[in-house]
Amino acid sequence: MSEPISSSLPTRASGPGGVAGPGGVARVRPARDLAGTVRVPGDKSISHRAAMLAAAAGGRVTLEGYAPGRDAASTLACLAALGVAVTRPAADRVVVEGPGIDGWQAPAAPLDAGNSGTTMRLLLGLLATRPFAATLTGDASLCRRPMGRVVEPLRRMGAQIEGRDGGRRAPLRVRGGALRGIHHDSPVASAQVKSALLLAGLFAEGRTSVREPALSRDHTERMLPLFGVPVRRDDLTVAVEGGRPLRAPARVSIPGDPSAAAFYLAAAVLCPGSRVVVPGVGVNPTRIGFLEVLEAMGARIRMRIRDEAASPAGDGPTGPVGEPVADLIAEASDLRAVAVGGELIPRLLDEIPILAVLATQARGTTRIRDAAELRVKETDRLRALAEELRRLGARVDEHPDGLDVHGPTPLRGAACDARGDHRMAMALAVAGLAADGETAIVGAACAAVSDPDFFVNLRRLGAAVDGPDDAAADAVRATGTAADGAIQPEGSASP
Ligand code: S3P
Repeated sequence: MSEPISSSLPTRASGPGGVAGPGGVARVRPARDLAGTVRVPGDKSISHRAAMLAAAAGGRVTLEGYAPGRDAASTLACLAALGVAVTRPAADRVVVEGPGIDGWQAPAAPLDAGNSGTTMRLLLGLLATRPFAATLTGDASLCRRPMGRVVEPLRRMGAQIEGRDGGRRAPLRVRGGALRGIHHDSPVASAQVKSALLLAGLFAEGRTSVREPALSRDHTERMLPLFGVPVRRDDLTVAVEGGRPLRAPARVSIPGDPSAAAFYLAAAVLCPGSRVVVPGVGVNPTRIGFLEVLEAMGARIRMRIRDEAASPAGDGPTGPVGEPVADLIAEASDLRAVAVGGELIPRLLDEIPILAVLATQARGTTRIRDAAELRVKETDRLRALAEELRRLGARVDEHPDGLDVHGPTPLRGAACDARGDHRMAMALAVAGLAADGETAIVGAACAAVSDPDFFVNLRRLGAAVDGPDDAAADAVRATGTAADGAIQPEGSASP
């Protein structure tokens, strides 16, 4: 049955790190001989973009392989609150239907982006073009994260945005209108900044261009032509012309998330005797820095690019969202240390937590630099990694923009804290598989922000894992969102 998504989100309970939902403790014991095939959730970054562009274009668009976690559900709830009809006939299929962005209505209540920076920043770009006022808020973690990086250029385009700390932090109140295109030289390589401005630029007068210091994920640029909008790229500058009509495709097929795959691949690499296959993963070059680094570390990892016949969608190696897709296979391996920095960082940004875990088992000192952006993620990931991995016996030095991880160091099970950060929860769980004794991860249920099946999948591969809180994770899987009433039974909510 399709369920409409309510426009009213109740206030969410905050866990230890300010993240929605129950904390949950996962207990992980040492593993070996992990074996099997894991299907990862649809790509979270691509899911947000597909939903927003479909809602902006209008018509009826089916999103196949939509990400099942809480973050992607936050985007759907916000769109529903703007008057877009959103239904979810299956956990991984979403139908977006509406009149297009000109028919969006002023939301009756603040839009809740939950834990999702992509929801807040990209939606801010679109809302900046609307003639009504809207408030965007999120959980405690999101309200601590920097928003000035999108607010400042959107103001230069003509949007009125107010917020805490002069508009540097959420909640943000935006009232948009007739924007004019600008050029923005972004000091950070951020796909969220780039995408927010390009989305605003679609409805601005003239050209909007963004230059970034290194190439961040380019899903927005790849998807816009699918919606009828040409994108011009010149090295690190990307531009759109405003005022082009958006044309929605009937269907968007979303590949598996390489950032979710990274944790299972790492588990296979670390646990003796293991072999794990992750099929149908998006292997966009701006997302697979992690695979390149794994290879340089000596990991036995293979990528089988899908040919036309092998693609379930029949769309060939480059799928309908302009994204290449592959099957990934990883086996237990001896690792050596590497140095990681520069332009590689934006291409493995979300994989640094799991890379640090791998580095504890690599011969030599792994040096990660140019990664200060990690300090403004769901938590300060550099500090969190240094402190939590040390609890497991790892030797880690924290630097202003990175980490030194000395290996190989035997890990020993201990209690550690996910700090409300889904990627910390999953990275620590994989560390626990490689540690002696039992590792208890407090607040592990937040893995459902991006991968509600994470702990179930570890068990399927043969790992001995209890928790974190199966009831909460099951509810997330069933509805595609947190079990907090965000999805109402059909007919009871006004989308
Ligand atoms: C994302 C971009 C990255 C990444 C985040 C998702 C996106 O953030 O860390 O998980 O979907 O655009 P930044 O743009 O802040 O670097």
